[in-house]
Amino acid sequence: MSQKVENIVWHESTVTKEDRQKSNNHKSCILWFTGLSGSGKSTLANAVEHKLYELDKKTFVLDGDNVRHGLNKGLGFSADDRRENIRRIGEVSKLFVDAGVITLTAFISPFKEDRDQVREIVEDGEFIEVFVKCSLEECESRDPKGLYQKARAGEIPEFTGISSPYEEPEKPELVIESDQLSIEESVNKVIDYLKGQSII
Ligand code: ADX
Repeated sequence: MSQKVENIVWHESTVTKEDRQKSNNHKSCILWFTGLSGSGKSTLANAVEHKLYELDKKTFVLDGDNVRHGLNKGLGFSADDRRENIRRIGEVSKLFVDAGVITLTAFISPFKEDRDQVREIVEDGEFIEVFVKCSLEECESRDPKGLYQKARAGEIPEFTGISSPYEEPEKPELVIESDQLSIEESVNKVIDYLKGQSII
């Protein structure tokens, strides 16, 4: 352990996560949306958040493109940088869960090991992996940011799905086939899951 960490003492909060959940009238968790660029992670995370907001739940969305402008500015797309990106998001999400918030994250998070690491730092049942499943062909034809075209032209190295791998979740809590379901159907699937687990 480094000197820096050795001299830091963890303080327990006197207001606990359980206290916060009680006053919110719902549990907190991470809805971890993973999938290819253009699969609809951000759209779905934001739509689910909107529904939860209407239901008077405490929520927050952490989104790949936004977080990379601030907290994770300076990280690129090598495997190491993606791991660090996901590690930091995982730690921030854990803090939000401790704050009693239903936290929705929308990152490609292409590596199974990195996602599993996040699952490990929170309590059982708090990490809900939502695989936003959409074929590469469909993502590429949507190409909302024109990035697939650039990647195919060799202008973006290590682009997920083209020149960098995406490891599909093996046992996600939820699979949302975004090229088969409407947004409303997808949102309902997530909300039903949260109700089924007595989170809301
Ligand atoms: S992750 O792999 O580290 O989880 P993250 O979700 O934060 O990725 O960022 C992905 C977004 O960055 C994509 O939606 C896309 O807009 C942009 N991007 C830029 N370069 C790349 C790349 N090489 N691979 C994937 N996405 C990229």
